[in-house]
Amino acid sequence: MELAFVTSNPGKVKEAREYLSQLGVEVYQLSLSYPEIQADTLEEVAEYGARWLAERIEVPFFLDDSGLFIPALSGFPGVYSAYVYRTIGIEGILKLMHGVSDRRAYFKSVIAYWNGEVHVFEGRVDGEIVEPRGSGGFGFDPIFRPSDETKTFAEMTIAEKNRISHRGRALESFATWLEENLK
Ligand code: IMP
Repeated sequence: MELAFVTSNPGKVKEAREYLSQLGVEVYQLSLSYPEIQADTLEEVAEYGARWLAERIEVPFFLDDSGLFIPALSGFPGVYSAYVYRTIGIEGILKLMHGVSDRRAYFKSVIAYWNGEVHVFEGRVDGEIVEPRGSGGFGFDPIFRPSDETKTFAEMTIAEKNRISHRGRALESFATWLEENLK
C-alpha cells in the first residue's frame, strides 16, 4: 500500500518511512502546504488541515502536526513550534530558558489520516531542555533529551529516536490501526 505524507519536512518523512515500511506501507512525500489554523491544540490544527486537503487531493494521505511544550514557559512554543523554530530558533528558546531551573519539556505529535474520514493518532515523549548536542534529526532535536536517556534526539539514529519519540508513538498507534483496519 502507498500512502502520501503531506509535509514539507523531509525529516518527518524519513521517520515515518522507517516505521511504516516494516508493515509494507510505502510512504511518499507530498510537499503541499495547507493552512495551519491558529488554535489551542495540535488536534484542531491537524484535523482542520486534513479536512482542507481532503477537498483537494484524491489519494489517501496523512499529516503530522507536532510541537515542543515547555511547562516553565506555560507550554510555549507548543502549537507555535514551527513559527518559533523559524524565527527565534534554538538560541531563542535557550535564552528564554536562561536561569530557569525547571527544564522539563515534552514533544507531542498528532497524526491525522484521511481515508474518507479523519482518524487521529497521538504520541508524547517527556524529557528535558539541555545544551545543544548532536547533528542528526531536525528542529529542536539538539536541545531535547528524553527522560532516562543520555543522548539528545539529535545524537540518536532515526531508529533509536523512533523507538521512544512522540512521532514514533503516534506512528505506532497509526500502524496498529492500519493493521487492524486494512485486512
Ligand atoms: P509542524 O508540525 O510542521 O507544525 O512543526 C512543528 C515544529 O516543531 C517543527 O518545525 C520543529 O521545529 C518542531 N518539531 C516537531 N517535531 C519535532 C521533532 O521530532 N524533533 C524536533 N523538533 C520537532
